[in-house]
Amino acid sequence: MNFLDNFNTTIRSNHSLINIVTYEEARFLLMVAESPLFKDKSIIVWDLADGFKTIKGSTSGIKNKERADPIHCLQEVKKFSGNAIFILRDFHLHFRESIILRSLRNLNQDLRASKKTIVITTPTSTLPAELREDVCQIELELPGYKEIEKELDNVVASTSQPNPPTPQLKEKIVESTLGLSMVNIKNLFSRIIITHGVIDERAIEIILHEKRSIIKKGEILEFFPVQESLNDIGGLENLKAWLRKRSQVFTHKAKDYGLPAPKGILIIGIQGTGKSLTAKATAGLWKLPLLRMDLGKVFGSLLGESEQNLRQAINLAETISPCILWVDELEKAFAGSTGGAGDGGTSARILGTFLTWMQEKTKPVFIIATGNDVAQLPPELMRKGRFDEIFFVDLPSNSERQAIFKVLLEKVRPVIRQFNLEKLAEATEGYSGAEIEQIIYDAMFNAFDDNQREFTEEDILGSVSEIIPISRLMSEKIGALRTWATHRTRKANSET
Ligand SMILES: Nc1ncnc2c1ncn2[C@@H]1O[C@H](COP(=O)(O)OP(=O)(O)O)[C@@H](O)[C@H]1O
Ligand SMILES: [Mg+2]
Repeated sequence: MNFLDNFNTTIRSNHSLINIVTYEEARFLLMVAESPLFKDKSIIVWDLADGFKTIKGSTSGIKNKERADPIHCLQEVKKFSGNAIFILRDFHLHFRESIILRSLRNLNQDLRASKKTIVITTPTSTLPAELREDVCQIELELPGYKEIEKELDNVVASTSQPNPPTPQLKEKIVESTLGLSMVNIKNLFSRIIITHGVIDERAIEIILHEKRSIIKKGEILEFFPVQESLNDIGGLENLKAWLRKRSQVFTHKAKDYGLPAPKGILIIGIQGTGKSLTAKATAGLWKLPLLRMDLGKVFGSLLGESEQNLRQAINLAETISPCILWVDELEKAFAGSTGGAGDGGTSARILGTFLTWMQEKTKPVFIIATGNDVAQLPPELMRKGRFDEIFFVDLPSNSERQAIFKVLLEKVRPVIRQFNLEKLAEATEGYSGAEIEQIIYDAMFNAFDDNQREFTEEDILGSVSEIIPISRLMSEKIGALRTWATHRTRKANSET
């Protein structure tokens, strides 16, 4: 059922107190005012600044006070005899006052027998516990394809351009604005007309630019600039081969060929083994934008807001697609989602939203999720069919450590210097890539401090003992992780 039908049914079934959850108050008002569904009703808006204002129909008898106040507002609504929808703006800001809550609840009883409805729009779905029984909540979703198309048609008509956009271009424009609010979309269309005078191919560039800046404003998604390539990763040959094989997978050719778009991978392994690096390098290899999602911030938001935030972030990722959605250190967000205690089931709901999306998504958003600790991850996440593969990254083998030294040393000394890689690898059994990097920097610091001489192999070997590898501190945990990984995951490292 679409939003207006749902809203209409709710009103006709004698709900007199309705909460519309939306950031787009103006769009809601316009939708209701224009809809023939409510032509028998007056539409009256109230806010603290202007008091009552009639949008449509008759409002005989309603009096504005010198200075608007919420109690007076409810009294006037009660007195009014007629068929009307009252839209009370910002009314949730008064919910802190107990007299307001009580008046609303009493009024709710009175209104049931009348043809009056009170609508309160709020940006989030949070309601005081006292009101939950009385209020019916409906979410106004972001504008859909049809609604945006209509807006675009209006804009095109207003330009009376000699070559209106082709149906293909129109489709492209509408699709690329999905996920934005109507206010944003209208502003965008105006910007396009101001810049180019017409709607043509150049519109897409402006829309993408706008989306990037919206992502910057939002807190949950971040555009991650990528310089890395697969050459920056030492070892992990199996994982790299898997990624290489899929370099072309989001192209039109692959689609025409009938290949399904891959969903994503989960990379598990102890910290410092190159999981985050792999996410970045994949974006470099596939030449796709990398969006990093901070799930911690999804959960951090106010109760009730988190789901909406997640959905908005997902919408944005889909509109940017094809892209890579990087969810780093999953366990930080999902720890506790199975316990259910403490957060009123929010994390479980978020997890559910996320999993459902993964299952059903059709847009080419490739997820790269990483995790250090499976014990803290909800098992549902690892069930077959969620990810294309779950990779386990082990500590680097001897030959992998050689490769890592080579990659990292070539970075700091691009003019080839000879190092005995076998010797270095031999000395660093049990060390992760991140620790090897730390060893190299440590050696460089020491040499620099010693009259700024060039660092040597001996400096590096000397630094090895300075750094205790994390694997030594948590050998038991690593053992358990390996056992877990044996039958459930693919190896990221090659066998050698
Ligand atoms: N296999 C590797 N090859 C090259 N560098 C590595 C590798 N593993 C780790 N590093 C170095 O350590 C840094 C941190 O690794 P990171 O990818 O953040 O580890 P993780 O995400 O697994 O904790 C990387 O930026 C890179 O400099
Ligand atoms: Mg990491």
